[in-house]
Amino acid sequence: MLADSNLKYHILTYGCQMNERDSETLGGMLEQMGYQWVDDLNNTDILLLNTCCVREKAENKVLGHLGKYKKLKQTNPNLIIGVSGCMIQQKGVAELIHERAPHVDLLFGTHNIHRFPELLNQAKAAGATLIEVWDQEKSIVETLPTKRTDKLKAYITITYGCNNYCTYCIVPYVRGRERSREPQQILDEATELANSGYKEIMLLGQNVNSYGKDFTKEVDFADLLISLDNIPQLSRIRYMTSHPRDFSDKIITVIANAKHVCKHFHLPVQSGSNRILKKMNRGYSKEYYLGLLEKISRAVPDASITTDIIVGFPGETDQDFEETLDLVTRAKFDSCFTFLYSPRQGTPAAKWEQVDEEIKKIRFNQLLKIQNEISLAKNNSMLGKTEQVLVEGISKTNDKRLSGRTEGNKVVNFDGDEKLIGQIVPVEITEALTWSLSGRLVV
Ligand code: SAH
Ligand code: SF4
Ligand code: F3S
Repeated sequence: MLADSNLKYHILTYGCQMNERDSETLGGMLEQMGYQWVDDLNNTDILLLNTCCVREKAENKVLGHLGKYKKLKQTNPNLIIGVSGCMIQQKGVAELIHERAPHVDLLFGTHNIHRFPELLNQAKAAGATLIEVWDQEKSIVETLPTKRTDKLKAYITITYGCNNYCTYCIVPYVRGRERSREPQQILDEATELANSGYKEIMLLGQNVNSYGKDFTKEVDFADLLISLDNIPQLSRIRYMTSHPRDFSDKIITVIANAKHVCKHFHLPVQSGSNRILKKMNRGYSKEYYLGLLEKISRAVPDASITTDIIVGFPGETDQDFEETLDLVTRAKFDSCFTFLYSPRQGTPAAKWEQVDEEIKKIRFNQLLKIQNEISLAKNNSMLGKTEQVLVEGISKTNDKRLSGRTEGNKVVNFDGDEKLIGQIVPVEITEALTWSLSGRLVV
């Protein structure tokens, strides 16, 4: 399949780690076809936008970019523009984009990304826009190539899709039913990555802790963690995202005893109000959630805990929001990703009575203020402690410093030799900010 090696590609990825992983697959396929990555958009033969539709903002960003990149075709008429990913998987969106942005040559969804090379060749030959969207997922295709974007950290998908149908969320509609990858495939991938020098793997799934529920054999997420923990040379294992409802005692025990599974728990709570949690279809209560955090901190005393919260879900009252603030105050999260509720067409909550935008914003800022104080206090409590830091590269804010992450996934900037990049080194925390830490290399 090798073609002209002067051909260049560029992929813009929106959304979550799942999409980043898909972009690595798309990149792998393009490289197999003879294309090479190029940073400069004016110099590319293929521009692919791998899209997200989890919130309206993400979609608007893509639409804005599509308009902007139209002029690239004026200077380079041979440029192929493709749009893939979750946004295209929504009913009628591919056609809508084709209508609004006729300069797009190829549109395909999440279920048929393995067909990309063929679709690309067809689109090039046809000279007209090609749209191919499958409305249902098929079985997992294991043989696709990958172009990894990082040299230290690698994503490994363990489950595709989601069965949870939280009432605000579009993901189950655009990613299909939950499907788990065979444990051996995951172990082989992790072993290969470890052997080729990767220090950290991130296991991906919309709900990683329901891994294996679709198997007839008895294997669950905890079992998978145990096998991965035994791979020599692998320093860190992370996972994203775990659902509080499915976070079993077995998983907690396995993580507490594991050598390489990071003591970081990202447990999206979404709301602190039982009434709203029920309307969201989350399957747990505020009391259950706080109890879960207590169990975790008993088993893993130095655990770092982060969450996601949606502000302004339909019907959220001041009282409901107070419950969220109360939960946040009690849970003392290390950090929290806060989102304004965004109605997604086709989801149940989009049809319910909406909260006023102004009220949403006021609540959002109130939550942010409280959480920022907590994050800073949590970071302050780390002063004087020595953390194991995986050195990722040069600091983004100060090119004379190194930057890395603690086991709890906090960014630490410190002075040190570039040769340390890729190593795990002890760093004493000397300064705490809201979003990051500063430290001193312990020698
Ligand atoms: N499967 C993961 C991640 C889903 S998307 C999980 O269950 O946590 C990441 C986050 O986006 C969610 O945790 C939620 O907080 C947020 N989100 C999803 N749909 C949203 C919507 N319609 N409006 C605002 N935030 C949303
Ligand atoms: Fe969306 Fe809920 Fe599935 Fe997460 S668990 S992807 S929030 S439906
Ligand atoms: Fe977005 Fe799709 Fe991920 S909707 S958040 S890119 S699964």
